[in-house]
Amino acid sequence: MKRIIIQYGGTGDLAEKKLYPAYRNLMAEGYEFEVLALGRRFEGRKEFLDALLPADSPASFSDHLDYLHYDMSSPDAVAILSEKIKAMIEGVKEVEFIYYLALQPSLYETAIAQIKEIDNDLMCDCTLTKKIIVEKPFGFDLESAQRYNAILEQAFTDQEIYRVDHYLGKEFMQNLLLMRFHNDIIRRIWDNRSIESIQIIFDESHGVDQRLGFYEKIGVVRDTIQNHILQIITFLTMGEPATISFEDIAIEKQKVLRAISPIESFHMGRYESLGANSGRVIQTPTYAAFKLFVNTYYFADIPIYVRTGKMQKEPKSLIYIKFKNTTRQVMHDDSIKENGVIITIHPELTIDINMNLKVPNTSWKSKPVRFRFNQSETFGVNTPEAYEQIVEKILVGDKSLFPTMQEINESWRIVEPMLDDTLPVEVYPIRTLPRFAEQMAQENDFQWFD
Ligand code: BG6
Repeated sequence: MKRIIIQYGGTGDLAEKKLYPAYRNLMAEGYEFEVLALGRRFEGRKEFLDALLPADSPASFSDHLDYLHYDMSSPDAVAILSEKIKAMIEGVKEVEFIYYLALQPSLYETAIAQIKEIDNDLMCDCTLTKKIIVEKPFGFDLESAQRYNAILEQAFTDQEIYRVDHYLGKEFMQNLLLMRFHNDIIRRIWDNRSIESIQIIFDESHGVDQRLGFYEKIGVVRDTIQNHILQIITFLTMGEPATISFEDIAIEKQKVLRAISPIESFHMGRYESLGANSGRVIQTPTYAAFKLFVNTYYFADIPIYVRTGKMQKEPKSLIYIKFKNTTRQVMHDDSIKENGVIITIHPELTIDINMNLKVPNTSWKSKPVRFRFNQSETFGVNTPEAYEQIVEKILVGDKSLFPTMQEINESWRIVEPMLDDTLPVEVYPIRTLPRFAEQMAQENDFQWFD
């Protein structure tokens, strides 16, 4: 079978930084497919390859990467692409098209309409299967997500639609489920009888940089909260699925999303612009902090504190599960620290468990000690990148790492109040935490994990 990935946004940041390396690695592993990159930035294939592929790219990859100068707004767009695709499949008996939309949400409607036209035009004397891949954020809000989906479903079945949130391709996410459900000692303490609070910290040191055009229209809520952060919360708080199958996990995730009560203490910030030529002029929110509750029997009353955004002093992505500290109270000893589980995602994947253990040669004095799992030390450094896992699943037709449309709808419903343009936005100097993040900690009597 000939498989062709038709890459919309083929000269964009996502394609260059994440998708092409994933394609290259998968081809090196033996997966066979062609990639047709669509874009406006370069006139021809040679300029495209020279500009976007590292000089050491193997021929096993570049030989399978073609380019078409494609302007979606041109009246000839559909005819040009259709002709190109027909030439690629001439004489082939079995074909699969994978339309990958790495585009601004505002371009989805046009792209999907054009794909439908191409689809009608592509009568071939062959067996033809198709898939369509859409990136997060899918839609701009609840209404547009549903509208795009309705258009998509006119040309594709739900089984053929893959809605990407690359966080589901990350090892730490998959590990969260295994850690919770394959360990009796964890399963028994993972609820509101033992957990006091949860923090999700997702600080990035980089800014919006070359993605300004994309990010400016999106902002932090659509960029990471509606998708990555809410997906992390579902993995942290979902009930045990009947089986580890995609369908059963999706049922549990949807229950969590439906049980999230209205967001509390929501604040947004935007990093300070340093002048027109600094690459740091941005008008949209780049940082947010908030508190939410998952109102289910086992997780109600556990505050989940989230902070996420750009241009921070250091990259820091972690989840901190703080357990109740009854021992301190019972022993009348303030030096006894709470137990905690810390899942660190950046700079490397580690899982720490904090316990109090005896200091040698003392009379019952304890000290907090950390037990650490380090992914690369235990399993080696060759863990595939998230996008590699995502693309591999697309190629083999496995939908286990993709959020369902119901999850996407619920996520939009949850974040909708955060999309209000009239909400205040604090301007923060770069490399500093917005003031509201500290204020929120004080008001809620907790400290951000450091
Ligand atoms: C993307 C966001 O989805 O995720 C980016 O658009 C963010 O703004 C990125 O930087 C973070 O992903 P990762 O894989 O680098 O943790």
